[in-house]
Amino acid sequence: MAPEPPLLTMSGITKHFPGVRALDGVDLEVAPGEVHCVLGQNGAGKSTLIKVLAGAHRPDGGTIAWRGETVAPASPIAAMRLGIATIYQELDLVEGLSVAENVFLGHEPTSAGFVVRAGAARSATVGLLERLGHGEIDPGAPVGELSAAQRQIVSMARALSHEVRLIVMDEPSAALDPEEVRNLFRTVGDLTADGVAVVYISHRLEEIRRIGDRVTVIKDGRTVAGGLPAKSTSTDEVVRLMTGRDVAYVFPERPDPPAGPAAEPVLRVEGLAREGEFAPFDLELRPGEIVGLAGLVGSGRSEILETVYGARRPGAGRVLVDGVALRPGSVPAAVRAGLGLAPEERKAQGLLLMESVTRNVTLSTLSRFSRAGWLDRRRERSAARQETRGLSLRPDDPDAAIRTLSGGNQQKAVLARWLLRGCKVLLLDEPTRGVDIGARAELYAVIRRLADDGLAVLLVSSEVPEVLGLADRVLVLREGRVVHTADARELDEHRVLDLVMEGSPTA
Ligand SMILES: Nc1ncnc2c1ncn2[C@@H]1O[C@H](COP(=O)(O)OP(=O)(O)OP(=O)(O)O)[C@@H](O)[C@H]1O
Ligand SMILES: [Mg+2]
Repeated sequence: MAPEPPLLTMSGITKHFPGVRALDGVDLEVAPGEVHCVLGQNGAGKSTLIKVLAGAHRPDGGTIAWRGETVAPASPIAAMRLGIATIYQELDLVEGLSVAENVFLGHEPTSAGFVVRAGAARSATVGLLERLGHGEIDPGAPVGELSAAQRQIVSMARALSHEVRLIVMDEPSAALDPEEVRNLFRTVGDLTADGVAVVYISHRLEEIRRIGDRVTVIKDGRTVAGGLPAKSTSTDEVVRLMTGRDVAYVFPERPDPPAGPAAEPVLRVEGLAREGEFAPFDLELRPGEIVGLAGLVGSGRSEILETVYGARRPGAGRVLVDGVALRPGSVPAAVRAGLGLAPEERKAQGLLLMESVTRNVTLSTLSRFSRAGWLDRRRERSAARQETRGLSLRPDDPDAAIRTLSGGNQQKAVLARWLLRGCKVLLLDEPTRGVDIGARAELYAVIRRLADDGLAVLLVSSEVPEVLGLADRVLVLREGRVVHTADARELDEHRVLDLVMEGSPTA
């Protein structure tokens, strides 16, 4: 069989931003109907590359050939018209509009050249959602009311509302739980069976082998390997290409349980509950301990963390730090007592996008760097830099605007803030979402080291191996209830997945 001519060939693409060479000659070739994975460390240039393809960034140099012709998509709509759709890392739906309005935003369905009624958009949307296996989503519902997984489906329905031949997905699985990931993969399989090509970006390397056909690896804005076979290239090889070194992606060792009497719990949660979110929840967390909460999206894990932190008011129960009950529903009280939360939605809750890396890190410790009303900026910067260097945050520039950082590096800035603050109890919600494999190992080591120094950690993660590898003890949540508690060493991934999904209709 003669190889099919490529659908897309990007050659020598370059793009720089003030002070940053984001793309320094990237090549990418995609065949029709294949799943082509693009891998690279945080800041390697993946999102920038696909924004060039999507017409959101104009490249400085290089060429794009699409179905044999040179093109230069000048806007996302122009790219869509060519048949290239993009599901962004940060989804770009309009929250106040309905599902159907979002799907047909900017290109109402037409019939014989006439724009047809809203009813047609609605029924066309229903058809698209059904094609994606999500007929349960109401086309009239405001997008703001949908879950992360559902929004992604809407974004895909919008892509399919055009005649697409290529769908680019930038870390689509980052916000999904294992079952939703399975649905996503089924959708990807259906698309490629229809001849649609998929460019798939992810930091979860096990996904590459599951759905990828070929792999392109980008490092520092350059293609270091193009079109490797996904199934037969080893993870070690891919990681070496991405990072330029061998990475031991092992979890740090757990300390032996201390002899003698156990320390007093620093955090005690007693019967904490919120109607409709989670049933009475109890926990004792000791200094040096890492406890993981495993459960599906919607199992109540983030809600528990936020309620402990005072960001949600409990319906019942209380939270004690060092034996002292906190004022319910008060974040300042929780922070004063020594609680820190690194939230899941770093954009919405964690970051000041217009500020520098330094200020984002020192945000909750600013008073430490002021004397008599004067802010000592040099001390502020060097304190922030010490934390960000410990996490290998890139670029290593304390004055860079946080919004220009890649997704994974923004996550590191959120963590650096709490490390600098030095809290007693750190609540981590999806701490490695979007963080590359090299940086993950570093992050795990940092978290364990902090625990060894006496920090208590409560960890929520969708990635079961992460919970099992990092935590000492694991609580498994299902529909707002703890259904199992065990030493992490006594559990394995299959057992946890069985526990989190038992009784759910699609298990
Ligand atoms: N608008 C911008 N202004 C300035 N620099 C930018 C801008 N967008 C991206 N960059 C820089 O370009 C480089 C590549 O970023 P990009 O977002 O493409 O990385 P990525 O590979 O998608 O990383 P991640 O895995 O963390 O999402 C980074 O150094 C980033 O800081
Ligand atoms: Mg990115």
